[in-house]
Amino acid sequence: MDELKIVRSSEKYAASYCETFDEVAKEGKFLSISGGYPLEDIIRFIRGCRDCGYPQFLLIAPDDRAVGWCDIVRRCDEPDDVGFLGVGIAARYRGMGWGARLMTATIDDARKRGFNEIRLEVRASNYNAIRTYTRLGFVKIAYQTDGVVTDGVAEDIWVMSLYSRRVRSEGFDRETFFRRFPKTEFVFRKSVK
Ligand SMILES: CC(C)(COP(=O)(O)OP(=O)(O)OC[C@H]1O[C@@H](n2cnc3c(N)ncnc32)[C@H](O)[C@@H]1OP(=O)(O)O)[C@@H](O)C(=O)NCCC(=O)NCCS
Repeated sequence: MDELKIVRSSEKYAASYCETFDEVAKEGKFLSISGGYPLEDIIRFIRGCRDCGYPQFLLIAPDDRAVGWCDIVRRCDEPDDVGFLGVGIAARYRGMGWGARLMTATIDDARKRGFNEIRLEVRASNYNAIRTYTRLGFVKIAYQTDGVVTDGVAEDIWVMSLYSRRVRSEGFDRETFFRRFPKTEFVFRKSVK
């Protein structure tokens, strides 16, 4: 397979990013929604990430189409230095190391922009993603029963986190965390097997 490239997101790739997101969402097993967003929402999201200084990178195929995305955004109810990671790659490009490379580029950029902790939510059944996240240093910090509901079907999720040394030594803010994740059953400071 020809070499792919990882680039900072821009409107140039909005249409193919929109299609790839839709494709992955419609697989119905991975994301929190079962279909994509309209193109204008994707364009707004790309601009919003750029304007707010949120890292967003795309995986580009030789035909210049975006076949994967990774972004790290803030949530208004979380501390400013906590970012939430979203990622996805078209099925035919998975399992070749591109996901790890795409996430590494995005996380490196997030660190430069002052993020001290990156969190994500992943379905408990998404073993491939969990393995990739674990290899990158993420640890499981919480388990939520029925954490995601798609098309009326509930599934448990893991919350995973990648801490910088500073956050690790200071500990995280439990109160904010439980406000954000009210259904969380237990939280571990360290990795949960
Ligand atoms: C999760 C996801 C982004 C991971 O990306 P990916 O490209 O498939 O992941 P990687 O290729 O980096 O790692 C997966 C496997 O490929 C292997 N791999 C890494 N480099 C490789 C290479 N050069 N050649 C062949 N295999 C390689 C890895 O070793 C890993 O397997 P292992 O952990 O058993 O060793 C991707 O699978 C995906 O988009 N899934 C669907 C959407 C999704 O789940 N999103 C996340 C929702 S929380």
